[in-house]
Amino acid sequence: MQKTLTVGLLGLGTVGSGVVKIIRNHQHELQHQIGRPVEVGKVLVRDLQKARDVDLSNDCVTLKAEDVVDNEAIDVVIEVMGGVTEAKDYIVRALKNKKHVVTANKDLMALHGAELLALAAESRCDLFYEASVAGGIPIIRSLTEGLAADRITKMMGIVNGTTNYILTKMAKEGLPYEEVLSQAQALGFAESDPTADVEGLDAARKMAILATLGFSMDVRLDDVVVRGITSVTKADLEYCEQLGYTLKLIGLADRKDERVEVSVQPTLLPNDHPLASVNDEYNAVYVHGEAVGETMFYGPGAGSLPTATAVVSDLVTVLKNMRLHVNGHAGARPLHEKKLKADVEIESKYFFRLRVIDRAGTFSAITSLFAERDVSFEKLLQLPVEGEDVAEVIIITHTTSKETYDFLYNALVKLDVIESVESSYRVEGGK
Ligand code: NAP
Ligand code: HSE
Repeated sequence: MQKTLTVGLLGLGTVGSGVVKIIRNHQHELQHQIGRPVEVGKVLVRDLQKARDVDLSNDCVTLKAEDVVDNEAIDVVIEVMGGVTEAKDYIVRALKNKKHVVTANKDLMALHGAELLALAAESRCDLFYEASVAGGIPIIRSLTEGLAADRITKMMGIVNGTTNYILTKMAKEGLPYEEVLSQAQALGFAESDPTADVEGLDAARKMAILATLGFSMDVRLDDVVVRGITSVTKADLEYCEQLGYTLKLIGLADRKDERVEVSVQPTLLPNDHPLASVNDEYNAVYVHGEAVGETMFYGPGAGSLPTATAVVSDLVTVLKNMRLHVNGHAGARPLHEKKLKADVEIESKYFFRLRVIDRAGTFSAITSLFAERDVSFEKLLQLPVEGEDVAEVIIITHTTSKETYDFLYNALVKLDVIESVESSYRVEGGK
């Protein structure tokens, strides 16, 4: 009988309890793959009295991190507690103690991934983080293994389950933002502070990780242009529906002539775009490679068991590597120097919703501004606002540069026939 492999957990919340369940419920399959039994040895929590989703003996649960990271009986540490400072300290300690580490923590990996992967290599330990991007979708392994032979030129996707859940429920069921955010929190999709979800930061961390791996460049969080969904209104969603579009929080990483752009922003997609039908907490990542062409990965982006599946799959890889004595080769250094596109090189179509004074000359003032910058319209719609001397003008432009978009936005705000620029978003896809 092979020696039991003992796992230590940092955290027993949504993901941690899922990890315990999968290790227990899929024990037979896991043993078949790795050739030895797996057990949970110690689990770090903050509150010993809290009711838990899984039964663990009292001596298994601890308030002391050293019981996990300095414990000689623990072979692999699984960090599912979240946060940056403490999580980093514990992972560093575990790696220095020659323990392999699996983490679901994108906050940490987006900020300190390069440093931690270097330490893991130095310690000849594995450090895997599949669950940190897109929950149950094996996107990191797909980029680093399945598509390793290719040259990735574009990744575009929905990488935050909470915001996709919110936008889906607002658009399809007309539910208010606050109500659906609470639902997403109750279902365990949201971060402990959901600001990171709704302000786009969580998705930005994931896009920094994907861009770093996909483009083999050191793409940092600061390199990602970020805008969340807090300014999206019911009216925006209704206009999108009228025009045949769906609004999604889209992460984009694009490479052209060795220069890259990485962003997270609410984006209009034509209804027949594959990402437009990705709903609720589901995520999807479209990857374009020079050789493979288009591929798309789809699955649950958040939640206990989907995320825990990714965590335990990393554990299986650690154990297979242990059998082959090949741990510690997880993080290759980036091949390319990072070069970001200038605003003039970032191209897209844009949606504008303007509240305008309903009188002669308004339309020509607006169209002259766009014509002056050589920007033509793909769609144009004017609707009167009942009982007021104002109208709403909706514009979808043809492709232009980010530099021109910024100019137009600032000029529209100052135009005296315009009361307000109610909203503006990037538009992807279509002709
Ligand atoms: P969670 O439900 O809030 O659970 C966090 C767990 O860690 C809790 O058990 C908590 O203890 C423990 N913990 C937190 N800080 C601690 C500290 N300083 N000392 C000791 N224990 C501490 O979080 P989660 O949703 O499972 O997420 C965990 C990680 O997975 C995060 O990095 C998150 O971004 C990532 N992730 C989550 C999902 C998802 O769908 N939820 C998906 C992908 C990745 P108590 O229970 O005693 O409070
Ligand atoms: N809060 C994250 C989300 C969890 O909603 O996508 C998965 O990373």
